[in-house]
Amino acid sequence: MTNDPDQIARIETYLSENLSPARFRHVMGVREVALTLAKRHGVDEAQAELAALLHDCVKERPNDELLGLAKRHGLQVDKHEQQMPDLLHGKVAPFVAAERFGVNDETVFDATRCHSTGAVEMGPLDQVLFVADFCEPSRPYTAAQDVRELAERDLEAAVLEVMQFKLRKTLLKKQPVHPDSFHAYNAWVDKRSRDEAD
Ligand SMILES: [Fe+2]
Ligand SMILES: [Fe+2]
Repeated sequence: MTNDPDQIARIETYLSENLSPARFRHVMGVREVALTLAKRHGVDEAQAELAALLHDCVKERPNDELLGLAKRHGLQVDKHEQQMPDLLHGKVAPFVAAERFGVNDETVFDATRCHSTGAVEMGPLDQVLFVADFCEPSRPYTAAQDVRELAERDLEAAVLEVMQFKLRKTLLKKQPVHPDSFHAYNAWVDKRSRDEAD
């Protein structure tokens, strides 16, 4: 599958007009890493490109707009998301992607939905986006480079590494852990130890 160049150009224009220059650079970095990882691990590159471009498309929308979009589309909003509507940006992105750009790929949407927290069940595209979002070259932390190298060799190990890093950061900041992150982490620790035992 290849993406329609006009559709990609329209998404890029929207991103350049709706994101800060730093976030725009982040998204372009995520695309670059997602394409590299997709190629390396046999994941559809067109889907990886779309997921990367769309994952933060509403990241800078105001809280009331995110909550409004969620409500209009019948999305269940939990108490964490009510308090921190930014948590919704990955789940709301598919609505905007469908309405504005005619994207209708549920595999791509699943990847955007779980790109911040991870999920108990993550397909290859979910993993590529989750890891690429964390380790693209403009990320300032040194762990990004390590995770990029690990992900080239072992994508699933990189997923768990990213989950651990994010959890540690949340705990150090004394912030609440979203239940999706918590459940995802436990499931992936379990999965990895089962895989190692095999
Ligand atoms: Fe995000
Ligand atoms: Fe991102």
